[in-house]
Amino acid sequence: MLSKLRTLCLKGIDGREVSAEVYIASGLPAYTVVGLPDAAVKEAKDRVVAAVRNSGFDFPAKRITVNLAPAEIKKAGTHFDLPIALGVIAAAGGLGKEPPARLGETFFIGELALDGALRPVAGVLPMLLALKGVGRTAVVPAGNSAEAAVSGVECLAASSLKDVAAWVAGTGELGPCQGAPAAAAQVQARDLSEVKGQAFAKRALEIAAAGFHNIILVGPPGAGKSMLAKRFGALLPPMTFDETLETTKLYSVTGLCAAGRLVSERPFREPHHTISDAALIGGGSSPRPGEVSLAHNGVLFLDEFPEFSRPAIEALREPLEACKVTVSRVKESVAYPARFLLVAAMNPCPCGYLGHPTRECSCTPIQVHKYRAKVSGPILDRIDLQVQLSAVKYADWEALPRGESTATVAARVLRAKELQRRRFGGAKANAFMAGAELRRHCALPDGASAVLETAMNRLGFSARSLDKILKISRTIADLEGAPAISREHLVEAVQYRMLDKAALAAV
Ligand SMILES: Nc1ncnc2c1ncn2[C@@H]1O[C@H](COP(=O)(O)OP(=O)(O)OP(=O)(O)O)[C@@H](O)[C@H]1O
Ligand SMILES: [Mg+2]
Repeated sequence: MLSKLRTLCLKGIDGREVSAEVYIASGLPAYTVVGLPDAAVKEAKDRVVAAVRNSGFDFPAKRITVNLAPAEIKKAGTHFDLPIALGVIAAAGGLGKEPPARLGETFFIGELALDGALRPVAGVLPMLLALKGVGRTAVVPAGNSAEAAVSGVECLAASSLKDVAAWVAGTGELGPCQGAPAAAAQVQARDLSEVKGQAFAKRALEIAAAGFHNIILVGPPGAGKSMLAKRFGALLPPMTFDETLETTKLYSVTGLCAAGRLVSERPFREPHHTISDAALIGGGSSPRPGEVSLAHNGVLFLDEFPEFSRPAIEALREPLEACKVTVSRVKESVAYPARFLLVAAMNPCPCGYLGHPTRECSCTPIQVHKYRAKVSGPILDRIDLQVQLSAVKYADWEALPRGESTATVAARVLRAKELQRRRFGGAKANAFMAGAELRRHCALPDGASAVLETAMNRLGFSARSLDKILKISRTIADLEGAPAISREHLVEAVQYRMLDKAALAAV
């Protein structure tokens, strides 16, 4: 007998409808899955056999063929267990002579335990979003209930294969998926006011947060780079609903959707420098989003930046430029969004004291060169704000007043963000202005050309640096609520590109 069911699969972070057909023929016992299944789908057989029998149904010792269509999409994951098991039960006549209407109309997702219990799976939210507006019902594991409720698709939660089979046959009920209670608001443990001095770096971080500009902090050990970076996330404006949904999809695909809650706080990812390229950028034989994608719409903090492997640093180019990562495999290629704000921190040399007013640097010129060459020109060019910090002097230490609090700075950032929302009509930020937009929104004031001429001729800035200076000027003007860029805004912006020539590229 033949049975047909519906399920879903993932292509990147998008869901696709899949039809699962199960055919039972007489002959020697065999079990074949066709339709580009991965190892986890082929392994489903052992789980399905045990789950079907332990749920009180017969698993026929015959030739069983499972076809997952369309065949051109790779089928990965363990969530095909439920549709396959139901298909076998129906094809073997376990649900009556005629398959009930619910069997063919509903979408089934779930991994089975050997005793027939349903286990939660990764990627439920993006899969279900493919059904938005289609008017269909889906059955998902109870463990995914909260995540499924977020999708807005009609979903039922089930705890076992037996319960699903009873619901399909019309002899049992399944309850609707329930949303998770909202996460308790996080207490802001770290405040910007705890960082003494470093006014220049704090101002640069404010600009970075307001215009979503990438930033690099360079300074000696103990200057407060890591301290500042860890307080940076709280300066960013709240996420829009679309941003929340996009980021949550990436967490769902990776299986990191904590208790099915939406990722409603901007992510702050700080991978260690020993991370592999694949874990940072994304990839693997069954492609998975990397840290750059988990930081989507949030912050990627790379502390001790030159300590990351060279291929890892170079691989950042694509996401920094295109805001996505493309993972290509023989049979498919998937793209994961990766629009993050890069905060990088580094010392000026391996020992950290080059240019220090009182301590001597113990590095050889070759060591310094090698260290800085890691952060190559093209990467540095993609970082809008470059900030040099110096150690806080002891004499200043006691005298320095407490700086502004995170809340005060975040309020200014929010106002600047609001101006950008009106300008671009969406979540877009100044850092992403290109070509015509840049010319339209960054008209220069009279007398400004002299500033840019000096920057180019004397400091050797590239044309791309000039674009960055214009974008930063726009953000500085927005923080002030000024409709037009002034000469002062431009002069301030030039200061954040000083590493281009002076400190890094010139070595
Ligand atoms: N500006 C500052 N205000 C208050 N505390 C500071 C400041 N700078 C450094 N500290 C203190 O020194 C510690 C080390 O600072 P932090 O880790 O931020 O330095 P760093 O610049 O990242 O150094 P490294 O280059 O070694 O990583 C902090 O935990 C904090 O206690
Ligand atoms: Mg540090």
